[in-house]
Amino acid sequence: LIGSSPEEVAKIASDNVLAGLAHHSAGAGPVLGLATGSSPLGLYRELSRAVQEGRADFSRAQGFALDEYIGIPDTHEQSYRQTLLNEVCDVIGLPADSLHVPQGMAASVEAIEAAARAYDASIAQAGGIDVQILGIGSNGHLGFNEPGSALRSRTRIKRLAANTREDNARFFDGIEHVPTHCVTQGLGTILDAGRLVLVAVGSGKADAIAAAVEGPISASCPASVLQLHQDAVVVVDEAAAKGLK
Ligand code: F6R
Repeated sequence: LIGSSPEEVAKIASDNVLAGLAHHSAGAGPVLGLATGSSPLGLYRELSRAVQEGRADFSRAQGFALDEYIGIPDTHEQSYRQTLLNEVCDVIGLPADSLHVPQGMAASVEAIEAAARAYDASIAQAGGIDVQILGIGSNGHLGFNEPGSALRSRTRIKRLAANTREDNARFFDGIEHVPTHCVTQGLGTILDAGRLVLVAVGSGKADAIAAAVEGPISASCPASVLQLHQDAVVVVDEAAAKGLK
């Protein structure tokens, strides 16, 4: 789907998230998968508007983050837990104790790996993610599944690609402070969600969108796994769409 402006992209994405959540069976609250980064910010604002207008309610929802840095405490202002508390929980009214984020700090690598396995189990226990919100890296990454990620991978430790660390250096006092590793939902974990809604704006994402949507399904463009999903919605502006045939 192509929106004519970032605002329209946010509106279309929000409508598709809410429609996806509407399929949630009655009983437990809906389960939302959450991306950080600049791409979904407009979408989160639209969801907040929907809450104010009585069209949505996240007070009983559960939120599962896509990823977290390793090596910075979850109280650090650039941790994805803090980012999501500020940019999502406070905005759409998702209770802080309903936000789940992979654990990036632990006494050992084994403990982080065990927590990553437990994270996948907790998603399953919540009934699975109804709608996973996604951005895309300029290199085609999904979550922090960098090029070369296994297509059926589960939540696990990954090394950040050099260009991802450069892209994210703007949030830190210099690239040397950007973590080198992260914990990310795997591509297989992401594919388990009921619906995927990916948002991308700007010409910097055009090549990645073209490769993801029209290229071969390949670990060299992790976002190409979207083609394997039966309910994947890609919402872009004209600039991000310009590589599409
Ligand atoms: C976010 C994430 C990343 C971003 C991607 C795009 O949790 O895992 O995949 O979605 O790097 O980032 P922005 O939206 O800042 O361009």
